[in-house]
This record gives sequence, structure tokens and C-alpha cells, in this order.
Amino acid sequence: MSALEPLYEGKAKLLYRTDDPEVLLTRFKDDATAFNAQKRGQIVGKGAINCEISSYLFQVLEQSGIPTHFLDCPSATEMRVRAVTILPIEVVVRNIAAGSLCKQTGIALGTVLPQPLVEFYYKNDALGDPLLTRDRLLLMELATPEQLEMLQSQALQINQRLIDFFQSCGITLVDFKLEFGVDSHQRVILADEISPDTCRLWNQATDDPNQRVMDKDRFRQDLGQVEAAYQQVLERIKGNRV
Ligand code: TMP
Ligand code: ASP
Repeated sequence: MSALEPLYEGKAKLLYRTDDPEVLLTRFKDDATAFNAQKRGQIVGKGAINCEISSYLFQVLEQSGIPTHFLDCPSATEMRVRAVTILPIEVVVRNIAAGSLCKQTGIALGTVLPQPLVEFYYKNDALGDPLLTRDRLLLMELATPEQLEMLQSQALQINQRLIDFFQSCGITLVDFKLEFGVDSHQRVILADEISPDTCRLWNQATDDPNQRVMDKDRFRQDLGQVEAAYQQVLERIKGNRV
């Protein structure tokens, strides 16, 4: 299977066609951006780490009956995935208040939410990925009502599986972002990646608000030790191989 031509370059990944129209190849980059690409940098080794973490997590989810685009990893930074059309929606699930939820509502950082909060954002860099209401999402025809129900229920199932998995790694899953795609059979399946770039992960071994951060907030907030934190997430996951 050889990569033929690049289809798309995102901020953290490249997407290539392959000689099979049902299969695409994703190459994970070390590039990191934050705040809608206003901040740019490199996290050395991130491409390989995120590729490996995502592949583990996709397999954990597949084993729980959740369909994903994951096929296999032909190299350390490459993942073969099922070809899907990505829905232009970022699905965020939150268990603990952090990030934009705190900024926009005044809820204190670290507040445990009474139940998981599922939010939908419009995946549109030019508009700054705005928060959508369900009615706006339907008005804009970004998804059908059935797809919206599906996204909500899949997001909650994925959240529960990932909470349990990270708990067994001594990590608290604070929040995360998912992207879904539609395959050639009109099935909605989980796509993109699940990694410290797209999750907030807190180390249960410490309560120190800076030390506990094991995710891209280290880069966003200049907390240092970014590579080491990503590496530690991978090591914890590998120690828990399912
Ligand atoms: P937020 O608190 O900034 O809205 O982020 C919520 C979660 O979504 C957090 O785990 C980081 C992740 N995320 C992305 O993966 N990509 C993005 O563009 C944004 C804004 C957040
Ligand atoms: N906003 C994304 C993040 O902070 C990255 C970006 O948009 O450049 O995760």
C-alpha cells in the first residue's frame, strides 16, 4: 500500500489517498497549534506518540462495539483509516469544567459536572469554531436529526469507555473532542484522532494544578515538559494494554 497523493493538510495531520478508494492514510505531524493557530510550535516526537495513543484508544473502543475509522498502522507516524466524509462538527464531551467552559460560564476550573456535557462546535477555522446550538446545527444542515442523535449517544458511550480506560491508567479524563465521518454505507463512524492533543488528561498522582496536566494544555499555557507528558500518557496506556 503506497501513499499516492496528499488529499488534505490539517494542523496536526496529513491525509493521503491510497490505491484503495475505501482506504486513506493519515500521517501524524509533530506540529502543534493552539488558539485557532495563533500559537504555533513543534512537540518533538508528538506525531509518533499520538499515532500510537490513537491507535490503542480506537482499538479499545472497537472492542466495546464502537465503530471507528481505524484499520492499522503501517509505520510509527502513519495510520490507515476507512475513507469517510468528515461531518463539519467538533463534538466535545466534558466531565470536569476546564478551558472554554470555565471562560464562557464562570464555572470554576475542576468542578465535577453532575453529568457529562455534550457540546457541538462548527468545524470552521475562518469562523473560529463557534459553539452551536442543536437548532443551529440542524438549521445549517450540518447533520440530520438522526445523525445528531447518533453523535450524542456515541459520544456518551465513548466517554464512559474512555473514562474507565483512563481510570485504569491513573488518569482522569477531564474533556475531549471527537470528529465523526460518514462512510460509503452512510454509517456514522468515529474518525480523526484521540490523543493528548484532543483530550484534557489529569495525572491522578498529583493535585498540583500545573503538574497534573498531561495534555496539550502544557503547550497552550507554556507549562513546559510537553514531550515528557505525552510520553507518559503513552507509557501508562501501554502498561494497561487491553
Ligand atoms: P475547550 O475547553 O477549549 O473548548 O476544549 C475542549 C476540549 O476539546 C479539550 O479537550 C481540547 C479539545 N479541543 C480540540 O481538540 N480542538 C480544538 O480546536 C479545541 C478548541 C478543543
Ligand atoms: N484550537 C486548537 C487547540 O487549542 C488548535 C488550533 O485551533 O490551532 O487545540
